[in-house]
Amino acid sequence: MTSVKPPSVKDTSHDVKDLSLADEGRRRTEWAEGFMPVLRQIRQRFAAERPLDGRKLSACLHVTTETANLAITLQAGGADVALCASNPLSTQDDVAAHLVQDHGIKVFAIKGEDHEAYYSHIRACLAHGPEITMDDGADLVGAMHMIALERLDDLELPVRKWVETLSADERKHLLANVIGSTEETTTGVIRLRAMAEERVLQFPVIAVNDSQTKHFFDNRYGTGQSTLDGILRATNILMAGTTVVVCGYGWCGRGFALRARGAGADVIVTEVDPLRALEARMDGYRVMPIAQAAAVGDVFVTLTGNTHVVSVDHMRLMKDGAIIANSGHFNVELALDGLAKVAAGPKRVREFVEEWVLDGKRIYVLGEGRLINLAAAEGHPASVMDMSFANQALAAEHLARHAGTFSKAVHRVPDEIDRDVARLKLAALGVEIDRLTDEQEQYLASWDEGT
Ligand SMILES: NC(=O)c1ccc[n+]([C@@H]2O[C@H](COP(=O)([O-])OP(=O)(O)OC[C@H]3O[C@@H](n4cnc5c(N)ncnc54)[C@H](O)[C@@H]3O)[C@@H](O)[C@H]2O)c1
Repeated sequence: MTSVKPPSVKDTSHDVKDLSLADEGRRRTEWAEGFMPVLRQIRQRFAAERPLDGRKLSACLHVTTETANLAITLQAGGADVALCASNPLSTQDDVAAHLVQDHGIKVFAIKGEDHEAYYSHIRACLAHGPEITMDDGADLVGAMHMIALERLDDLELPVRKWVETLSADERKHLLANVIGSTEETTTGVIRLRAMAEERVLQFPVIAVNDSQTKHFFDNRYGTGQSTLDGILRATNILMAGTTVVVCGYGWCGRGFALRARGAGADVIVTEVDPLRALEARMDGYRVMPIAQAAAVGDVFVTLTGNTHVVSVDHMRLMKDGAIIANSGHFNVELALDGLAKVAAGPKRVREFVEEWVLDGKRIYVLGEGRLINLAAAEGHPASVMDMSFANQALAAEHLARHAGTFSKAVHRVPDEIDRDVARLKLAALGVEIDRLTDEQEQYLASWDEGT
């Protein structure tokens, strides 16, 4: 398949901070690889079978050591990979350099890139002419659909300017080329389901987030641990005795609440879903509305996927010195736009910590409200991303092997893939489990045996 017109970024094959960082990126990527046995096995099979042979694949993911291992696996399967960041602050520049220098992967990502650079990198991944896209937050798919629906005004300027240079045929080709997409995170899946519901989704998407070997582990244990890690690295506060308010008790919130409690914090949960709120209460946390929690918390962390969960009115109720952070996909969870209008600041007091003064009280915002586990720490540990990215690699293979057979909808990762990933992970951990006996199988399939 052909690519559409190249973007006018300074070098169409990559845009990274500094290629001389490649050695460090290679060392760290190899370290992560040591904790990714499932992905390693898939890589070996991909190298032998080449299920993605010649397929152009564009990925918009956090550019970390784990993503590097995924990109190398996809390349081993024959894919021609382009990669951009799914968040302006989450790129590890050494890793980006390693992928370009040692693997020839087309990486467009620089940590701290501004809005214009972020979207010109998305544009570069679109211009790659992908047949498969991989998103973490649906930015690539979203932009492609704005193009397809001719909603050019809704495109960010760097993408829009490029699209305007394309002919109608080239625009059509951009979308017609795509056999399918995969989505990594809850927020992306929510957006895609909304598109399917409105019947505007133009190609099949596999919701990798929804596989059990992804969200049960990655969202809960990965986000749980790394969110705590990000907050500690940013602030070096003592968790013991600190009152931590966890907004949202979904997969990520449960994980973070568990780890914060483990570190000695007094945890309060806020929720809008009665079932989740009840679960949090029975798990032993205090549960209350954010407007009440605002006055008692020391640290506030949003993990909801929703907008303005912590509003300016809530911030006004907070104690002097309150710390606020977000670990949900977008920084809109905190009303930072509103804060900037009414508070004095920001004053950078530490790397990743900005002080605002609101009504004479100090509020510390971590990592500009971006996912704190990626902004101030290194994101999820490799061992848990092993499963998420095994799902990604296998989902891409599934799309390639069955191209043209899927409906334009959001699909689940097939159960066999989920179970295979769990089996491989257990084997790598050296954990054995029981098997059903014939008698047990028969018992479970019958209805006529009573007490
Ligand atoms: N930081 C990371 O690395 C990382 C990793 C995975 C997912 N995420 C993101 O984290 C967010 C949460 O993901 P999840 O898998 O836990 O989703 P989830 O759907 O399991 O949980 C979200 C919870 O937030 C609750 N909620 C919604 N609005 C709320 C409000 N106003 N106040 C309090 N609670 C509210 C919902 O009821 C739900 O229980 C998403 O944006 C997801 O994309 C981040």
